[in-house]
Amino acid sequence: MDHSQHILLVDDEIRFGETLKQILALSGYRVTIATCGREAVVLLDTHIFDLVLLDLELPDMYGYDVLDSIKENNRFLVAIMLTGNGSIEAAIQALRKGVYDYLKKPIDPDLLLKTIEKAIKHKQMEKALSASEERFKILADASWEGIIIHDQGILLDANQQFFNLFGYQREEMIGTNILEKIFPPQALTAISIRISNGEVGFHESMGLKKDGAPFPVETNSSCMEYHDRKVRVCAIRDISARIKAEQEKITLLEKLATANKIETLGLMAGSIAHDLNNILSGIVTYPEILLMQMDQDDKHRESIEFIRDAGKRAAAVVSDILTLARGTTAEKKICDLNTIIKNHLASIEQQTIISQFQGVRIETQFAEDLSNISCSEIHISKAVMNLLNNANEAIEKDGLIGVATSNRLLETPLHGYEHINAGQYVVLTISDNGPGIPEHTLNKIFEPFYSKKVMGRSGTGLGLAIVWRTVHDHNGYINVSSNTTGTTFELFFPATRKQKDEKPTAISMNAYKGHGETILIVDDQEGQRLIACNLLKELNYQACAVACGEAAVTYLQQNKADLVLLDMIMEPGMNGRETYEQILQTNPAQKVIIASGFSEDEEVKKIHELGAILFIKKPYTIAQIGIAIKQTLRQG
Ligand SMILES: Nc1ncnc2c1ncn2[C@@H]1O[C@H](COP(=O)(O)OP(=O)(O)OP(=O)(O)O)[C@@H](O)[C@H]1O
Ligand SMILES: [Mg+2]
Repeated sequence: MDHSQHILLVDDEIRFGETLKQILALSGYRVTIATCGREAVVLLDTHIFDLVLLDLELPDMYGYDVLDSIKENNRFLVAIMLTGNGSIEAAIQALRKGVYDYLKKPIDPDLLLKTIEKAIKHKQMEKALSASEERFKILADASWEGIIIHDQGILLDANQQFFNLFGYQREEMIGTNILEKIFPPQALTAISIRISNGEVGFHESMGLKKDGAPFPVETNSSCMEYHDRKVRVCAIRDISARIKAEQEKITLLEKLATANKIETLGLMAGSIAHDLNNILSGIVTYPEILLMQMDQDDKHRESIEFIRDAGKRAAAVVSDILTLARGTTAEKKICDLNTIIKNHLASIEQQTIISQFQGVRIETQFAEDLSNISCSEIHISKAVMNLLNNANEAIEKDGLIGVATSNRLLETPLHGYEHINAGQYVVLTISDNGPGIPEHTLNKIFEPFYSKKVMGRSGTGLGLAIVWRTVHDHNGYINVSSNTTGTTFELFFPATRKQKDEKPTAISMNAYKGHGETILIVDDQEGQRLIACNLLKELNYQACAVACGEAAVTYLQQNKADLVLLDMIMEPGMNGRETYEQILQTNPAQKVIIASGFSEDEEVKKIHELGAILFIKKPYTIAQIGIAIKQTLRQG
């Protein structure tokens, strides 16, 4: 039998040694003999052995002392002691030094062979176990997760990731109770219950770093035997990134829902605004024509003025929806926010509201050195109006509204914004001492159609959506803070160093009037053609009208017109832009004004690319169309 195992036999009795060597060789063992301790030490240093048979009493030392000098190369060496006198103390000492077994001389060859076989098997198992432990250690260290073995919270072992995850050193954790170190107090009870119930599997909770920073973790626990104890193994991972991604997804979905609502609104607004504006043209313009023809003391004057103003308000609502759907990219002017607010507070609209809420006091505080802003005055007024309305409605009876302006330097993002453009801002603060906005609805109030008010009275739910859109379109930010004692809205607008634009001087009605120039009206709606004809005649122009782009082109090939007032959307047939292109082919110098319900339309943009052309928004007042025509006729 070839065991190919290498045995070192250390004995000073040469004959005994040789006999043993022969017995062992017969069983297939390779045997090297050393006759003293020193020789054995040298051999162990330079050769690898599987087993050493040690005589207890060597001439130069005790046999087991040889074991003291065993190096790494013979780490798995197993030793058997051979004793002559059978001293029990020596045997105990030998076992303490790691000797596997001992045999008394004279040696029984059978027993010797059996003991050797057992010893080698034992060593092989130890070797395999050690290799397996090594593999598991490598596996555990390769994991992204922290892995611990603990007994009721006492840390027995852990991989490096675990220490990295919580920011501790191995030495300060091993052998100590780690639960209170790695979990915050509020998570401890649940964890202790899981441990004492022997619960296994996944669990989410909060973890605690050494520096006190809490972070979300997921644990996966199981039980196992470890050095004859029942212990728990637990893999722990940091799930901050996952939680953050989940939260971002929710926010994104919420934003998407809001964006979808706005988009739907845009589509709806787009389709109704055209028709609605045409209808409103009659209500806004006819009263004006009638008023121009009426005596100052006519008894119907007041009623007709009422119809005109109602029409204007209706047009403003349409414009509100369009604002929301398409933004407020309208022309911006350099303005002083204080003046805008003062004008708004003095307006009839606001005075009417003030009279409805008599118990509410408005306190203003205007910064004297307020920077200018570049803005659309009408939209800012609307925003102020909506905020004041909300404040009034929230207070209901008696209370206080604060309106203040200030200059402020913004450097860090406001709540709800990931980034802001750092710089100087003009801030409008409107606060009230109403009942406040519940925290869970704070992220909803800017959504279009979100309202907690009774539908019909107020409460379309467009107010704050318009405020949000306006501020957004002015590259500004909104900050809301609210509790049960009141609400504060802060609107931030980027400050500008530019000076205010001069107001155009008012033009008297006579200045709008023409001198009998011919104007061709192109509109597919009969009502619109009629309104425009009447209006232009009133302004002393000669007006004629056609119902489509094709008819306009034919008309202009045979007749001359000083100006064409061209509708943008005409169906079926050519739209305003296509008609304009055709007209230019016959007469490149033809003067044209475009009238449309939309201010920001792709087609309108294309028209601007064709050349300088005036654009007038429907429904227009007599003054607006008068000025536009004058301006166009004066050109070139
Ligand atoms: N200052 C405030 N105090 C308490 N709640 C407010 C305040 N401002 C707004 N809200 C709440 O936010 C909701 C949305 O306001 P928003 O102005 O958009 O719509 P609305 O006022 O209900 O309707 P609309 O402005 O179209 O008439 C309100 O219904 C109200 O519940
Ligand atoms: Mg409102």
